[in-house]
Amino acid sequence: MRPATIGIVSIGDMGLGMARLLKSHNYRVVTVAEGRSEHTIARIRSAGIETLSTDQELVVQADYVLSIVPPRNAVATAKRIAEAYALPSTASFRDDIEDVDSRPKRSKLYYLELNAVPARLASEMAALFDEPTTATETPGRCHFLDGGIIGGPPTSTQDVWKKPSVVLSGAVDLPPAFKTLASVLNMKLVSPRIGAASTLKMSFAALTKGLTALSILSFSTAHKESLLPELLALLEEYSPRTAALATNGVIGMSPKAYRWEDEMRGIGETFDTEGGWDGVGVGVYGGFAEIYRTIAEDTILGEERVEHRVRGTTVDDAALIIASRKSSH
Ligand SMILES: NC(=O)c1ccc[n+]([C@@H]2O[C@H](COP(=O)([O-])OP(=O)(O)OC[C@H]3O[C@@H](n4cnc5c(N)ncnc54)[C@H](OP(=O)(O)O)[C@@H]3O)[C@@H](O)[C@H]2O)c1
Repeated sequence: MRPATIGIVSIGDMGLGMARLLKSHNYRVVTVAEGRSEHTIARIRSAGIETLSTDQELVVQADYVLSIVPPRNAVATAKRIAEAYALPSTASFRDDIEDVDSRPKRSKLYYLELNAVPARLASEMAALFDEPTTATETPGRCHFLDGGIIGGPPTSTQDVWKKPSVVLSGAVDLPPAFKTLASVLNMKLVSPRIGAASTLKMSFAALTKGLTALSILSFSTAHKESLLPELLALLEEYSPRTAALATNGVIGMSPKAYRWEDEMRGIGETFDTEGGWDGVGVGVYGGFAEIYRTIAEDTILGEERVEHRVRGTTVDDAALIIASRKSSH
């Protein structure tokens, strides 16, 4: 029996960790590098990930495709993969490869949408892929699972992996080999309803990244008034756990601010639509989105990369840079 082939689009910070984790468990990991930046190409090379030339090759070779891209690119990525899968020759090319569970007919591709998007977008993407509802097979459709990743990229120390949680939702039939993959990637099916996993992810991120947004406002204001040491000392004395969360959040957020802008807007929409907050969600999290947009576009912190940190690695430096941002008066 051959090992399952996992396509990952794309090899960013999270995709790289997932690829390394899968490869360490003897999965074949493939990607498409066309159009990607030198940073992504360098990550692909660093992990020895197999690069395929086209999206069609990817959907022919892969048993599962994991979409791990900035939220703003999630729908375009889903369309790309759906179109490649629907090409008339894809089905026959796929049939030339044996099924991973040794069944007579190869299972359809599984597309796992793992990005931080609201349930509405998850449903829109599911419509591009979803299962046929009648007995007549609709060619060109593959299995779709909604999902979200909670926690940082997988890392290993002496072969012991620290993994994020991957929550999934959807009502698809899962093949026998999925059980092992789910265990390797720490995946859990939380609901048969598309959108549920996305809502869970957004509800979690609202708290962690929301606190970081509040910390940015608080620390930069205290810095402008030359009160940051006093604020940090009071936090340490009266709420040390908040102090740790706030400082770690501010130190770590710079390379991610560009994609958290969209995530904050998605959280606002989630609270209004799924939570019935009727505009309050977008009001609050639209403000947080603007904070992250400011960091990414109006300060040098927007140039930071996870693999090469220069500025904003201490609270003092981050607060100094944010307090003197372009839009500050
Ligand atoms: N990193 C984390 O700690 C973390 C934690 C939980 C969840 N996640 C989730 O993981 C996803 C990706 O985050 P990340 O940290 O890996 O981001 P990242 O480090 O910024 O990487 C994003 C990757 O997507 C690629 N990309 C950009 N535009 C694309 C497009 N139009 N089509 C295909 N690929 C494209 C980028 O390529 P270029 O280099 O060419 O731009 C890069 O390889 C997000 O949805 C996020 O919610 C991340």
